[in-house]
Amino acid sequence: MSLRATPTMGGAKGRCNSLERMTDVYAGTPTGDSNDDLLALARRVALTAGELVKRRREEGVTVADLKSSAVDVVTLADRESEVLIRRLLQQSRPDDGFYGEEGAEDEGTSGLTWIVDPIDGTVNYLYNIPHYAISIAVVRGSADPLTWTALAGCVLNPVSGEVYTASAGGGAFLNDAPISVAPAVELEQALVGTGFAYDAATRGRQGEVVAKLLTQTRDIRRIGSAALDLCLVASGRLNAYYERGLKPWDHAAAALIATEAGARVAGLDGAKASGEMLIAGESSVTIALEKLLVNYGIETVTEG
Ligand code: IPD
Ligand code: CA
Ligand code: CA
Repeated sequence: MSLRATPTMGGAKGRCNSLERMTDVYAGTPTGDSNDDLLALARRVALTAGELVKRRREEGVTVADLKSSAVDVVTLADRESEVLIRRLLQQSRPDDGFYGEEGAEDEGTSGLTWIVDPIDGTVNYLYNIPHYAISIAVVRGSADPLTWTALAGCVLNPVSGEVYTASAGGGAFLNDAPISVAPAVELEQALVGTGFAYDAATRGRQGEVVAKLLTQTRDIRRIGSAALDLCLVASGRLNAYYERGLKPWDHAAAALIATEAGARVAGLDGAKASGEMLIAGESSVTIALEKLLVNYGIETVTEG
């Protein structure tokens, strides 16, 4: 792995050419407005970006820049993946808005917005831990989880080939097989996933909460990709997941997938899930978990 910081995308010409080739395939393929059409597009684009991301991983990963802290990196592949996804979506849906982690926001005119994490789990990607994802969602509304209505979402782990998909009211699927959240358990029997901020002070406070939670649950998992954590809840492989400080692109697709799989996905006190808080799992598990998290002072954990 190269940790050398290169401030611009500065990619070799070959990289750009291969992006052009990948986008050419889609030129002139308009997509309809139904949730099924939107989901099919999200899936197709995720699979194309997944090929690129996997190939770049094999070629060797370059850190392009640091973001909010010295451990919050962006790689060339994060940027290339977002450029590719954006171009492919625009070719099929030129009037829709776009909100991705690595580029500028485009509000669009159709009332629909694509919310994209080009690589969720970048630190895993950097270290070649095969647990990262491409996350693509389309919502009615703007890029605000408190007001949007999620229509379709796809989360792909390009290494395992696992594709999680959901559309509003249409159920959730893993590689086309229906999935559902694990049944109710007591919190002491629950396997709970979570994640931490990139800011060291915030992580310290998150760690204090987790330390207390550890004695009250089966165990804790910090897997390193919020989107996949939520998909693990959706497929019954984690009982619950919570995180404070998520960004819209971290959860837009996977929260819909978890909801469609029967999970309750919410913030604190019945609020909609957002950067303030997201707790997902079987309903009674999330209610018990929320009570503990509040007792342990989760609300005092603020960024920075
Ligand atoms: C991060 C991962 C991580 C979560 C962080 C996210 P990134 O996204 O999802 O698991 O704990 O909150 O920022 O930076 O890898 O796209
Ligand atoms: Ca992310
Ligand atoms: Ca990311």
